[in-house]
Amino acid sequence: MSHSYSDGQALNVSPNPTFKQILEARLSRRGLLKGAAALAVAGTLPLSLAGCATGLRREGRLGFNSVPVSTADAVRVPEGYAANVLYAWGDPVGHPSASPAFKPDASNTADEQALQAGMHHDGIHYFPLPYGSDNSGNGLLVMNHEYSDDGLLHTDGFANWSADKVRKAQNAHGCSVIEVRDNGGQWEVLRPSRYARRVTATTPMKISGPAAGSVGMKTAADASGMTVLGTFNNCAHGYTPWGTYLTCEENWDTYFISSGTLTADHRRNGVSAKGRGYRWNEFDERFDAGKHPNEPNRHGWVVEFDPYNPQSQPVKRTALGRFSHEGAWPATASDGRLVVYMGDDRVFEYIYKFVSRDVWNRSDRNANRNLLDHGTLYVAKFGDDGKGGWMPLVYGQGPLTRENGFSDQADVLIRARAAADALGATKMDRPEWIAVHPASHEVYCTLTNNSQRGAKDRPGTDRANARGNNVFGQIIRWREMGNDPAAQNFQWDLFAIAGDPQHPDPARRGNIKGDAFGSPDGLWFDDGGLLWIQTDVSTSTLNKNHYERLGNNMMLAADIRTGEVSRFLTGPNGCEITGVITTPDGKTMFINIQHPGETASERNDPKNPKVVSSWPDGPAGGRPRSATVVIRKNNGGVIGS
Ligand code: FEO
Ligand code: CA
Ligand code: CA
Ligand code: CA
Repeated sequence: MSHSYSDGQALNVSPNPTFKQILEARLSRRGLLKGAAALAVAGTLPLSLAGCATGLRREGRLGFNSVPVSTADAVRVPEGYAANVLYAWGDPVGHPSASPAFKPDASNTADEQALQAGMHHDGIHYFPLPYGSDNSGNGLLVMNHEYSDDGLLHTDGFANWSADKVRKAQNAHGCSVIEVRDNGGQWEVLRPSRYARRVTATTPMKISGPAAGSVGMKTAADASGMTVLGTFNNCAHGYTPWGTYLTCEENWDTYFISSGTLTADHRRNGVSAKGRGYRWNEFDERFDAGKHPNEPNRHGWVVEFDPYNPQSQPVKRTALGRFSHEGAWPATASDGRLVVYMGDDRVFEYIYKFVSRDVWNRSDRNANRNLLDHGTLYVAKFGDDGKGGWMPLVYGQGPLTRENGFSDQADVLIRARAAADALGATKMDRPEWIAVHPASHEVYCTLTNNSQRGAKDRPGTDRANARGNNVFGQIIRWREMGNDPAAQNFQWDLFAIAGDPQHPDPARRGNIKGDAFGSPDGLWFDDGGLLWIQTDVSTSTLNKNHYERLGNNMMLAADIRTGEVSRFLTGPNGCEITGVITTPDGKTMFINIQHPGETASERNDPKNPKVVSSWPDGPAGGRPRSATVVIRKNNGGVIGS
């Protein structure tokens, strides 16, 4: 499986004859920058070497005609491509026990939902079958279902709220494992499949790593602090080079309410008296943090499970820290240890990386079973001089001592944000996805937006987060010292500042070369080194700002050697585009369309669910549904080429 991982083969990027030309091109482009966009010129490092590196599986090119912005309630792809819906909310997962059909009026029961696709597809990965093969015609798709829109999930929405409705909502969260196959050019979900599985907000999970069994993890229901029910608000994802899936708990705090006094840690992590209206606490008491103050400590982790073994129990890996995990992206250090890059997607939060203690074993996947339990978590500091460094979250080092209120390593990991505060890490503009170049290990990260930057009593700008009232975000990148992902130091610059380059307001003006976009979120390097960018401009921003000219959310591809960006896909109304992976041959791409039909209020009216979108089933069909879409090139070629 090493082909599809940034697994450290061909690491060395030697000086390249074309580097001077590239640098000159970059500098002349920089010379054109004006106003706020000029703040992007932070680094002077020779980035963009990545595309010139050897070691790519193939050389990616922007070989398609870009698609125009769109406000159509449809998925649009370039001429010569086809996009088809594969797996939408409510479609049966193909579990061996039953395949309940989706009911367009949302009358499926909670038990049926547990055997069907959850809501709000997000991060996604393709695992070839069998394990270790390069099979591009049959594999497992594993994906996250981030949250529920209860206005769509139940026939009558929140009316007559009940234990059954809570159970259905919990079953609409978590992950899907589906088996997919290329049946003569048409991809299909195999039903039944012995691999088919749903992980939900109530699936029993093991807690492991330094915080397992610690005092902060113990609750009334689990005196051991070793087991927890479920995972929810699984946003983006990750995977390991030994073929396991990582699902990442993002806005978990919003599911809790508190009938009691909020602790400092509750407040630091966003747990509030009222939550965000999921109403699980009304029938599942652990979601009242006032009654169960430690239950929130058991969420906000990276969870690992083995999709090749449908009986495997998911494991929360506490060594990777607790925060609003967007995703977890691997790279292999020069000495063979595993590095996992992670963003904490909340305004003014941080970028982290985990470096394993042990080298991962390429020949025996079972030997890696607990590799993610031992290692060091670091948080990033981005200096205004274009240099950066990684600071360890290790109890007893620096300010992370008893005198400063930390009791042990478990406490440091549970309160990772507080530890990173103490270390003086750089407060970022909402770190979302991270992509590691498959050959050079140059790292790119989307900072999606932060309209609070520079506001009264909020942190001001710095060179990495250079715009106040940052509506459209930026993409930052860094190169670790010696191109070694485990390095302690790096150099960084901004790859792109998002927003229409023609926008009259400097706070919204970008410096994109090519097709404009806003609020980058999903980010992924294919094996050819093309950088795929997916956008999530919020519905309220799209509604409020008619000048943006960005239309519906979209996916683009960038050639990092030239900086050229080209729009590849536009989505239906009210959606974001998130999740992207191809088969190993690069000829089939899977993406997710999330929350088509989202309104500014974020929850749909069950009496009128199709007011914004009826994708994918159309006006005569049912409610708008998040879905996995398969993209092929009509001539069978590599996607993007
Ligand atoms: Fe769920 Fe940060 O996006
Ligand atoms: Ca995201
Ligand atoms: Ca987002
Ligand atoms: Ca989302």
